[in-house]
Amino acid sequence: MTANGRELVLGIESSCDETAAAVVRGGREILSSVVDSQVELHAPFGGVVPEVAGRSHLRAILPVIDAALAEAHVELDELGAIAVTTKPGLIGSLLVGLSAAKALAFARDLPLIAVDHIEAHVYAATMECASDPYPCVALVVSGGHTTLYKALSPLAIERIATTLDDAAGEAFDKVAFLLGLAYPGGPSISKLALEGDAKRIHFPRYRARLRPGEVAPRFQPFSFSGVKTAVLYHLRGQDGRAPTPAPEQIPERAHIAASFQEAVVDALVEPTIHAARELGLRTLLVGGGVACNRRLREKLGAAARAHGLECVFPSPAYCTDNAAMIAGLGWQRWKAGLVADLALDASSAS
Ligand code: KG4
Ligand code: ZN
Repeated sequence: MTANGRELVLGIESSCDETAAAVVRGGREILSSVVDSQVELHAPFGGVVPEVAGRSHLRAILPVIDAALAEAHVELDELGAIAVTTKPGLIGSLLVGLSAAKALAFARDLPLIAVDHIEAHVYAATMECASDPYPCVALVVSGGHTTLYKALSPLAIERIATTLDDAAGEAFDKVAFLLGLAYPGGPSISKLALEGDAKRIHFPRYRARLRPGEVAPRFQPFSFSGVKTAVLYHLRGQDGRAPTPAPEQIPERAHIAASFQEAVVDALVEPTIHAARELGLRTLLVGGGVACNRRLREKLGAAARAHGLECVFPSPAYCTDNAAMIAGLGWQRWKAGLVADLALDASSAS
């Protein structure tokens, strides 16, 4: 039971390029989840422009909160708490959601709960689970993060490996840009990959090179800058000096997309399975925008089955940024007494 006996949490998310609000009962039952995406505003730039993102959050935040309450048929005075993303993310964007959350919490005398966006991506995968998935290994794979966690409970999450350079989603976005495909790159590449042969070009899969005498780390890190550069050299020739060809002059575009996707997926699958085996954990949770990727779902699912592991992916709407996961994890934190005060601050770092 929660402190004020109420079970409804309003979640607010504005860490990157989605303004989102949701009402969730008891940490699991999603009554509404409203997302205002800024994809079209950022598409001409091939990536998120922080200043544009902050301004758009300002315009959208109150209508999105109103829409979430209306869709859930919930009045403000029925809420038990307000949960909000405080890190990591774009600082100007985070502050918009945090200011709205503080104002509501103050005006309605409601508890304010701080939520870590990445931990919420892990929690998203649990919201649709019929049984308790903990303890497990969780992979969060998004535009800004590619990180493995040992998760003992929603509130006991330990980071065990991350990327040395780019996030996987970032690599999708940058390679899509090279291939003249629309932003965000993940969906564009995976669509084009359906027409290509993933075996046509061998792009490198990262393997840590150890110096003589150096001991391999217990958990392998990820790295995606090498595969991204390999696509660039493939397009420009091996000296890298030729200009990047215009998209219509790339004859193998679909094969490049399929082969690149395969390399990224392989580079995600191997360390994830290894981590679960190393820790003796039998469940894998996956979250973040790249978890929408069909090939990743197929290959990680098959590898997990082959090793007797269960692999859980959220539905696509709860892979990408949303506020249901914020309200859900917020409820867990609230129940554990983790309530913030109005001095709560946002942070860009994880
Ligand atoms: O979790 P998310 O919505 O935002 C961040 O927190 O970053 O993830 C967005 C990322 C983008 O890089 C996008 O290209 C990638 O997720 N993405 C995909 C797919 N759908 C979205 N990547 C690969 N395949 C997809 N189907
Ligand atoms: Zn995210």
